[in-house]
Amino acid sequence: MLSKKSLFVIFLLTPLFVMAQEHSYVGVKTCGMCHKSEKSGNQLGVWKNSLHSKAYETLLTEKADKVAKEKGLTTKASESPECLKCHATGYDLDASLLGKKFKIEDGVQCETCHGPGSDYKKKSIMKDREKAIANGLILYDKPEELCVKCHNEESPFYKEFNFAEFWDKIKHPVPKK
Ligand code: HEC
Ligand code: HEC
Ligand code: HEC
Ligand code: HEC
Repeated sequence: MLSKKSLFVIFLLTPLFVMAQEHSYVGVKTCGMCHKSEKSGNQLGVWKNSLHSKAYETLLTEKADKVAKEKGLTTKASESPECLKCHATGYDLDASLLGKKFKIEDGVQCETCHGPGSDYKKKSIMKDREKAIANGLILYDKPEELCVKCHNEESPFYKEFNFAEFWDKIKHPVPKK
C-alpha cells in the first residue's frame, strides 16, 4: 500500500508529468521538409542513410525474433517493449500524442533525440534557438551521454561504443555560413 505521504507526492507531481508530456510527435517527414537541402545540411539524408532509420525494420527480422525468444519474451520482437525501447519511439504513447505523419516504423528518428516537435517546428520558432528550446527542442552539450542510453551492454548485439567513430557516421551539422 502507498502511504499517505507518497500519495500526496504523486498528487503534487501529476501536473508536472502532464505538462512534460504535452508536446506531440510530428514525425521525421515533417522535420525533413526543412532539413533536406544541401545548404541546410541535409539532416534528412544523413538519417536515411544511417541504421537509425532502419532500427524498427530490424525488429521484423528472423534474427530479432530469435533473440527475443531466447530472452524468454513471448511476443514478437517488434511488439516487445524490451526491444522497442531502443529501436523505436512513440510505441508506448497515447495516439493523441502522435501526429498523422508520425510513424513508429521510422525507428530512431529526429524526435527520438531532439524531443517531440509539435510546438517548436514552426520556422519562426526554429530560427531562434532559445525559443525552440523553450518549446521542447532538446540539444546536447554532451552528446555521448545520449548515445549510451541505447549503445550499452543491454543491447543483445552490443558493439563497443566509440563515440568519435560512431558520431562521425551520423553527424549532421548545419554548414557554417
Ligand atoms: C518550417 C521549417 C522547419 C521544420 C518543419 C523543422 N525545422 Fe528544425 N530548423 C529550421 C531552421 C530554419 C533552423 C535554423 C538553422 C538553419 O538555418 O538550418 C532549424 C534548426 C534546427 C536545429 C538546430 C538548432 C540549433 O540552434 O542548434 C535542430 C536540432 C532542429 N532544427 C531539429 C528539427 C526537428 C527535430 C524537426 C522536426 C520535429 C524540425 N527541426 C523541423 C527549420 C525547420
Ligand atoms: C534511442 C536509442 C538510440 C540512441 C539514443 C542512439 N542510438 Fe545509435 N543505434 C540505435 C539502434 C537501435 C541501432 C541499430 C539499428 C539497426 O541495426 O537496425 C543504432 C545504430 C547506430 C549506428 C550504426 C552502427 C553500426 O553497426 O554501423 C551508429 C553509427 C550509431 N547508432 C550512432 C549513434 C550515436 C553517435 C548516438 C548518439 C549521438 C546514437 N547512436 C544514439 C539506437 C540508438
Ligand atoms: C541519434 C540521435 C539523433 C538523431 C536521430 C538526430 N539527431 Fe540531430 N543532433 C543530434 C546531436 C547529438 C546533435 C549535436 C548536438 C546538439 O546540437 O544537440 C544534433 C544536431 C542537430 C542539428 C544542429 C546542427 C548544428 O550544426 O548546430 C540539427 C539541425 C539537427 N540535429 C537536426 C536533426 C534532424 C532534422 C533529424 C532527423 C532527420 C535529426 N537531427 C536526427 C542527435 C540526433
Ligand atoms: C539498450 C538498447 C537496446 C535494446 C534494449 C535492444 N537493442 Fe537491439 N540494438 C541496439 C543497438 C545500439 C544496436 C546496434 C549494435 C550496437 O552497437 O549495439 C542494436 C542492434 C540490433 C540488431 C542488429 C544486429 C546485427 O548486427 O545485425 C538486432 C537484430 C537487434 N538489435 C534486435 C534486438 C531485439 C530482438 C531486442 C529485444 C530482445 C533488442 N534488440 C533490444 C540497442 C538495443
